[in-house]
Amino acid sequence: MLTGLIRRPDEAGAPAPEQVHLQFGADAAAQVAVSWAASAAVARPRLRLGRTRGQPGIQVDADERVYTDALMGETVFTYHARIGSLEPGTQYAYEVLHDGSPPVPGTFRTGPRGRSGPFRFTSFGDHAIPGPVGDGKGPHSPNAGYVVTAVERLDPLFHLLNGDLCYANNSDQPVATWTSYFANITRSARHRPWMPTPGNHENEAGNGPQGYLAYQTRFDLPGNRTPAFRGNWYAFTVGPVRFVALNNDDVCLQDGGFSGLRRDNVRGYRASGFDPYISGYSGGMQRRWLDAELAAARQDEDIDWIVVFMHQVAMSSAHFNGADLGIRQQWLPVFDKYGVDLVLAGHEHHFERSFPVRGVLPGSALLTPAPVRTERRDPAEFDTRYGTVHLTIGGGGHPYRTPGRRLHGAHEGVVIAGVQPGDPLVQRRSVIETEPAVWSAHSDTRAAFGFASFDIAPVEAGGTTSITVTYWAASDGSPSYRARDRVVLRKPLRAGQRPDDQLAGTRQARRSSG
Ligand SMILES: [Fe+2]
Ligand SMILES: [Fe+2]
Repeated sequence: MLTGLIRRPDEAGAPAPEQVHLQFGADAAAQVAVSWAASAAVARPRLRLGRTRGQPGIQVDADERVYTDALMGETVFTYHARIGSLEPGTQYAYEVLHDGSPPVPGTFRTGPRGRSGPFRFTSFGDHAIPGPVGDGKGPHSPNAGYVVTAVERLDPLFHLLNGDLCYANNSDQPVATWTSYFANITRSARHRPWMPTPGNHENEAGNGPQGYLAYQTRFDLPGNRTPAFRGNWYAFTVGPVRFVALNNDDVCLQDGGFSGLRRDNVRGYRASGFDPYISGYSGGMQRRWLDAELAAARQDEDIDWIVVFMHQVAMSSAHFNGADLGIRQQWLPVFDKYGVDLVLAGHEHHFERSFPVRGVLPGSALLTPAPVRTERRDPAEFDTRYGTVHLTIGGGGHPYRTPGRRLHGAHEGVVIAGVQPGDPLVQRRSVIETEPAVWSAHSDTRAAFGFASFDIAPVEAGGTTSITVTYWAASDGSPSYRARDRVVLRKPLRAGQRPDDQLAGTRQARRSSG
């Protein structure tokens, strides 16, 4: 990708590595990628890895990937070092460097192998940046910084970013907005992977066919067998959980990527035919990949849980954006077919939690998801064998929150059922309809900001496995995040995976060998 026309700096002028952040590979027990950026092309970008800092270890050469932002005309240099064959559940120290730069240190911990131990992850969407960049019209809030500290405090193994990372498509300084974003998260993301999925605001018109070129260049994510759609959707395994990232702009009806700022200021926007409306762009490829991925996960005896994370939502009781009928048409039947346990999203700037849902209400033209009664012992415990629990966690830091007064109440859902005509120069307006929100178990628009933590117990004494979900929220301008909602997803382990079955299996093996 790099041409010989880009001049390498001499060693004395080398810029420092910056924006260092981590990603897991497809197998979190063995694979990690370390990524960073530099303000100019550098020579011999590389990573040194050891068990403790300062200890000599292996060296890994980094790949360089660049893109040129269509609004700024500025080229961004990123570097990615992939490490494989790591030990599971192990702490490592690393440093990244290139010729003429001081090394930048970091650490990470690999995921557990199988059901060998518990772990925690965290998640939110709609992050934005902690302070103004450029003309300051791009979204920013102090909480976009505070939430990173709050996540760090919980020491998760990794974090999931449910789209709308920094809203660069609405900034007059998109490159500086991305720089601010990574500068904010690196204090966490260089010690634990922050795994993203693209939201509508990652669509920067002019940056590649779907506008995702900045996102795709800056992250190094597990493959999906289609280089053109690298990072748009992918999957990875941590312990007994298969995580699946989806790109909902491919199936949504809403026109969420439109930016008047880029329409008016990206050179060649009209002449080049740039169009931020990308619904259907994969031609069904993503859905076929999802079906195959979930089928494989359900046949894998080492996988107990399937967690999907994506941006736009399948259900919403907020008059903000609304749920999208395209998601209901394209994704929910596949989630039902393979019994997805948990779906995490953002896009709506508040917190909402559904009952387990499966199928649709009879005769519902809007495909309203049907809540299912489970054999729950307690109103805060659900068995996801009977249905999929959806969480909207969109209060990461965007200053414009879902207005509570515009909620019609807990019993009305909002659905984007279509789009009006438009073109690349005029945003297509959503066609809004409403439905009974029979699927809504809990919503919270009072707290402006929040995120969720997830504690996985792979094997419990009673022969079950569980995920404990906690929602942490803070008021506007407050760094204090407090637990406000807690729910447990619990189900029996399959035969052969339960502690008593393991004991029985061991006894059987002893008897047959002795
Ligand atoms: Fe958003
Ligand atoms: Fe969004």
